[in-house]
Amino acid sequence: MTSNLLSNPTTEKSYDRTEWKKGYQSQPNEYDYWVDDIEGEIPHDLRGTLFRNGPGLLDIHGTSIRHPFDGDGMISAISFKEGKVHFRNRFVRTEAYVQEQASGQILYRGVFGTQKPGGLLNNAFDLRLKNIANTNVIYWGDKLLALWEAAEPYRLDPATLETIGLDYLDGLLKPGDAFSAHPWIDPSCEMDGGKPCFVNFALKSGLSSKITIFEFNLQGKLLRRHAHAIPGFSFIHDFAITPHYCIFFQNPVGFNPFPFLFGLKGAGECVQYQPNQPTRIIMISRQEPDAKPIIIETPSGFVFHHANAFEVDNKVCIDSICYDSLPQVDPDISYKDVDFDKLDPGKLWRFSVNLETKIVERELLESRCCEFPAIHPDQVGRNYRYLYIGAAHHPTGNAPLQAILKIDWQTGERQLHSFAKHGYVSEPVFIPKPNATAEDDGWIITLVYDGSHHRSDVVILDGKNLNEKPIARIHLKHHIPYGLHGSWTSECFV
Ligand SMILES: [Fe+2]
Repeated sequence: MTSNLLSNPTTEKSYDRTEWKKGYQSQPNEYDYWVDDIEGEIPHDLRGTLFRNGPGLLDIHGTSIRHPFDGDGMISAISFKEGKVHFRNRFVRTEAYVQEQASGQILYRGVFGTQKPGGLLNNAFDLRLKNIANTNVIYWGDKLLALWEAAEPYRLDPATLETIGLDYLDGLLKPGDAFSAHPWIDPSCEMDGGKPCFVNFALKSGLSSKITIFEFNLQGKLLRRHAHAIPGFSFIHDFAITPHYCIFFQNPVGFNPFPFLFGLKGAGECVQYQPNQPTRIIMISRQEPDAKPIIIETPSGFVFHHANAFEVDNKVCIDSICYDSLPQVDPDISYKDVDFDKLDPGKLWRFSVNLETKIVERELLESRCCEFPAIHPDQVGRNYRYLYIGAAHHPTGNAPLQAILKIDWQTGERQLHSFAKHGYVSEPVFIPKPNATAEDDGWIITLVYDGSHHRSDVVILDGKNLNEKPIARIHLKHHIPYGLHGSWTSECFV
């Protein structure tokens, strides 16, 4: 551990709640500048752009939204070139963002409970979705796409972050179609002669569900598309891939639409965890799209994110962050007053599916509260040695993510770089060094909200040794509210 170990880790909080809350203040401003306040040195051979997405507004003209997941998407672009770094951020000009900013009030209900003013009468039976484009952002096939899983992507100019408009993927999507916010890049697709391909899915859920798989080549042209009917309601946020499979965890949840229809709750708040139901692991063949999906039941909990999956002999292993139940905030309090101790922490599990016996074995890999995994991009879908993940400062209990944890599956060694007491981390990204051969020979970049200065830092860590002090700590002039996901491209847009 690298920073201020606290004197009594069993009782003393690793964070200050007042500081933590300030990371949820809106950032209405849009910036564009070279950053000059830097501790350490930016590596000269680090070249490219980190795009990040997340809610930039936590209020609409002073009225708080109900949940950060309802916040309008704001893209940050952090570009590295010749030892220098440039920052730019822009809101995605979604139709709803433009309308609400012009009118000065909330005009749409949010999926996670934000309501329009005017009570039930003004909210009941308004079933429009506010596409907030706030979950992920990825550059692929010369397009920069802001993703939100329940609707079409928004396309942006990667150099200016100006919004170009809704993108229907050359006519593959129809208005209102979903497109997940969790694509994977298969680094070496067996079906395409070892070329990389972009794999994503779309989920349509009701009494039964339909999962559509999309695979695109480097130019963004469709390679493969196939759809599969799955029994039951599904709440599936992420998936995993191997060379042969797309793997989904159908969480044990039900959906009661009535509070949503009658204007009492957001649709996302009507999802109910069903602890006595199993999780269904759904494996869809990538290479034989006509094959029936393999569906295997396992007790699990609730999964948002998968770290990776890989095939070994007749087994498929899936490493996932699993909660004992669906984490939901008490409807009577603000998300900023959440009692961390009352919510289950996410923990890392390995699910090993035996394809012959159809038996699933579960193993707890890491019990420390953790979320937002990252791996070497060439190891996606392959057996891998190193995992990097956001983690709590203390080894037990539930708390905000304040550290980056590195796990070596070969030796079992853990390294933890903690930013407690004032720092709160976001999803790390692993960037291999040019000409590197070792799997951990690269840089870890993460945004850290510094609650003591109310600003965000871009921090570069040495992927080989998290115990070292940061290679560089880049102080932005302002804060970026806690974000969701992002991605790296070696293209430098500055
Ligand atoms: Fe996610």
